Amino acid sequence: MTNISSRKTGLIPAMVLALSIVAAAGPALAQSAVAEGQKLAFDRSKGNCLTCHAIKGGEYPGTLGPELVDIKSKYPNRDELVAIVYDETKRNPLTVMPPFGRNRILTDKEISAVVDFLQTL
Ligand code: HEC
Repeated sequence: MTNISSRKTGLIPAMVLALSIVAAAGPALAQSAVAEGQKLAFDRSKGNCLTCHAIKGGEYPGTLGPELVDIKSKYPNRDELVAIVYDETKRNPLTVMPPFGRNRILTDKEISAVVDFLQTL
């Protein structure tokens, strides 16, 4: 019994330590989400955004969609960008842009990473 309770109290400092490590890693995690988002956006079997959009740093873009530039100033509201990537047919029923979320081409987490990347453009 005493053994168990002493182990429990030992857990608390360990948890505090773990939480502060997570807090310190915050900016690094955000950075990796941007890198992950760029990878997904450029990956021909995932976002495949380059098929239709010119994007800084991407090769051989198509021109069906507008160049993705100044996205952060054009869409300061992050939710709006998530909505566009999730299902652009909601804004424009005639769009050729695939509804990445609705059709499960990308998971919510992947869309979030792509949006993090879009906000750097
Ligand atoms: C098959 C072509 C196609 C693909 C693939 C595509 N898009 Fe689009 N996208 C478009 C078109 C066309 C528009 C113009 C708006 C519309 O049709 O409603 C657009 C609009 C957008 C906009 C709004 C741009 C602005 O300046 O207002 C964003 C942001 C966007 N797309 C992001 C993406 C991302 C991120 C991906 C990849 C995950 C992607 N698109 C993949 C065709 C595409």
